[in-house]
Amino acid sequence: MTSLLVTDIAELVTNDPHAQDLLGVRQNAAMLVEDGTVAWIGDTAQAPAADEVVSATGRAVIPGFVDSHNHLIFAGDRSEEFAARMAGQAYSAGGIATTVSATREASAHQLEGNLVRLLRQAEHSGTTTFEIKSGYGLTVESELEALRIARRHTAETTLMAAHVVPAEYKEAPDNYVDLIIEQMIPRAAQEGLAKWIDVFCEEGAFDIEQTRRIVEAGLAHGLKPRLHANQLSDMGAMALAAEVGAVSADHATFVSDEDLARIAEVGTVLTLLPSIEFSTRQPYPDVRRYHEAGVTVAIASDCNPGSGFSNSIPFCMAIAVRDMHFTVEQALWSATAGGARALQRTDVGALTVGSRADFSILDAPSYRHLVYRPGVQQIAEVYRAGTLISSNPSPFTCKELP
Ligand code: NIG
Ligand code: FE
Repeated sequence: MTSLLVTDIAELVTNDPHAQDLLGVRQNAAMLVEDGTVAWIGDTAQAPAADEVVSATGRAVIPGFVDSHNHLIFAGDRSEEFAARMAGQAYSAGGIATTVSATREASAHQLEGNLVRLLRQAEHSGTTTFEIKSGYGLTVESELEALRIARRHTAETTLMAAHVVPAEYKEAPDNYVDLIIEQMIPRAAQEGLAKWIDVFCEEGAFDIEQTRRIVEAGLAHGLKPRLHANQLSDMGAMALAAEVGAVSADHATFVSDEDLARIAEVGTVLTLLPSIEFSTRQPYPDVRRYHEAGVTVAIASDCNPGSGFSNSIPFCMAIAVRDMHFTVEQALWSATAGGARALQRTDVGALTVGSRADFSILDAPSYRHLVYRPGVQQIAEVYRAGTLISSNPSPFTCKELP
């Protein structure tokens, strides 16, 4: 057995559901990790001995971010499209086709290299759990290959062949839906490549009926549904998410009160993607309505080459607080415990006894600095299962500040 003790933590965010406050914050705390799992939490003064001791030197410790929505298997660059959008052009689902062409030309080695680069970047910003979708190949072989690549890096893989109808099926989109149902879903399930099925249910992508058929086929093969719902319009995707019992409905930019009530009743998590509203100049939803309706809310990055290419959860949290009316505490909860709920994970998203020891030591005395200091690297050290995976050395510890 190996043990690691983290001492002198000014604020330890535990997300303990039994605590009085949302984040279960403990002051002057210490945390013992045994074999990658949180084994004890208490005061620094009472801390037990351990093989290795790391002093947080009066800084804050938070759970690793759980980023439950990412499109990271792709090639090509769409920075021109972004610049054109900032100059006034509207975002549309059609841009996905640009990435599909580049992705089909890339080798598996190139795709995996790009993925690893993006994952290391995100870890640098404090993310320790990732969901990864396919969806830029749109042929049976390329979608399965994308999932194979993703599967080497995470258990949270999503078949999203229903991202957009590829050009070769433009005249007969239902035939592409048949291909997904008859070949991609059964093979992804049989090879154990996907945990989730996702559909971009939107004007220019897939309609309600097509979405329903794909979700039902996924469910029949043991793939649980999560949907891209109500990103650009309200065409009934959110109501469908509630009807099929989607684990998460993502984007959720335009949601009626009626749908919020249904979603709260069914327990579907609404995953908000602040970087997408930022990068597409869409209106920001006011999350106070969602919380008032009793909905569980997650925050994810939705890192993708088109609608938003940030993989920084602190950036997403800053927008969520500033423009979507999350409190700082709600934003941190949604990016950690909320993300875990969106992936039905009970081992990550919190730091309580039994949790996987995924955590970041901040370069700040309080978790509030994550939002208080937007754009500034506040993640000093990142651990996954008790192992240091990223470190951003800072010239002074908090206690040594000149
Ligand atoms: O989550 N909405 C659909 N898919 C991505 C965008 C993909 C793209 O534009 O390449 C999203 O926003
Ligand atoms: Fe997405």
